Amino acid sequence: MSTPQAKLFIDHKEIPLSVYSGTQDDRAIDITKLYDEHHIMTYDPSLGNTAICRSEITYIDGGKGILRYRGIPLEQFDRPTPNFIEVAWMLIFGRLPNKTELDEFRSLLSEHELLHEGLRNQFQVLPAKAPPMAILSAMISMMACYYEEFLTVVDDQSIAEASARLISKVRTIAAFTHRRSLGLPFIYPDPGMRYCANFLHMMFSIPYRQFTVEPEIEDALNLVLILHADHEQNCSTSAVRVVGSAQANLFASCSAGVSALWGPLHGGANVKVMEMLESIYRGGRKPEDCIEAAKDKTNPFRLFGFGHRVYKNYDPRAKILKKACDRVFAKLKTQDPLLNIARELEERALADDYFVERKLYPNVDFYSGILLRAMGIPTDMFTVMFAIGRLPGWIAQWKEAHENPGTRIIRPRQLYVGNPETRYVPIEER
Ligand code: SDX
Repeated sequence: MSTPQAKLFIDHKEIPLSVYSGTQDDRAIDITKLYDEHHIMTYDPSLGNTAICRSEITYIDGGKGILRYRGIPLEQFDRPTPNFIEVAWMLIFGRLPNKTELDEFRSLLSEHELLHEGLRNQFQVLPAKAPPMAILSAMISMMACYYEEFLTVVDDQSIAEASARLISKVRTIAAFTHRRSLGLPFIYPDPGMRYCANFLHMMFSIPYRQFTVEPEIEDALNLVLILHADHEQNCSTSAVRVVGSAQANLFASCSAGVSALWGPLHGGANVKVMEMLESIYRGGRKPEDCIEAAKDKTNPFRLFGFGHRVYKNYDPRAKILKKACDRVFAKLKTQDPLLNIARELEERALADDYFVERKLYPNVDFYSGILLRAMGIPTDMFTVMFAIGRLPGWIAQWKEAHENPGTRIIRPRQLYVGNPETRYVPIEER
């Protein structure tokens, strides 16, 4: 069956272009030869209309608010005991692991949970209040200094080893970062604990007084990390693909992902949401003031946690997080006034034409911070938690590109609007 064609009419020429179909209802026009054969480019500065790859990992239908990991609807991971490590393995290797595979991956995670002492010592020279995302990005990049064997990964086994090191150590790096900021001694990982419980142990235990991990909190943390695990070609994942396309190693590529995620328009939004909710709670501003400020084009304020490049419907992750907040608070018999403020903000926004016309709904960042706060995780660590969750997605996407023989270095073009040819003027003549 011949590939469907599109036709581009320009300069009295008709240029046939192939049209590819995805397995859902997406289609893409192939312009890969347009510049070489016709000396013309397409223009799409934020790549919002451009597919940079074929991928089998995550599917999003932004209009319907659908998100699937390896075909499985996200809602099916919101189960009584969610398992982040199972989802991480599935994203990376393409299917749900059997018990042996999951146990093997778990032991790899335990085997590699410690930091090389050289890496650990780096914390001593960092300022106590160094931005956690700066530390995370630097430490992941520095892993290339200590685990040279993973500068080139050749097969699933080496990918599994490198992934286990990254996924396990970022958890230790995050906990050590938090401890360092408080001047508390580092608590080493306990190889007998599951991934999320071990993280909470490293964050909150003190010498001779082990932190008790409530099962509800452990489940909630697994769920939060699952909900952040991948999101097709978002900004940070695209950064990982761009860096990886130069055949840079996995650590360098994921470190670039951390840097992109730090931005307040991306993963950094979960911190901004909390600051917004806290400013309302402290009486600094009213919910209606936030709504009006967000609509005012002369005001740089945005309603953080709202809007999305792809979702023009409710972000399915926000729906699950909002329900999880109710569930966790009910189980812990606690309340958080910020949740009621968030709900009021959502209600006001979804009843306001400005937001309705622009299809601006709560995104993953709107409720995630409230749940992380209920776990005792400080606001300055929220984007680090996003990175811990997103790491398996970055690895999966990097692996998919790395294994594709058709992958070429990602090098966009530009539309030059600068000076025509100009003569150099010696300084004496200027
Ligand atoms: C994440 O891509 C991903 O998948 C990302 C992510 C993932 O899992 O990786 O989902 C994670 O990054 C979620 C988004 C977190 N960021 C925020 O919550 C920051 C606040 N939101 C926005 O800045 C914005 O909505 C973006 C950045 C998320 C999307 O920006 P776009 O697609 O470039 O949209 P835009 O800025 O062009 O907005 C379109 C219109 C504009 O108004 P008009 O010019 O049409 O009048 O909507 C307005 C915007 O001003 N708008 C907002 C708004 N978001 C969009 N107005 C007020 N408050 C907002 N939050």
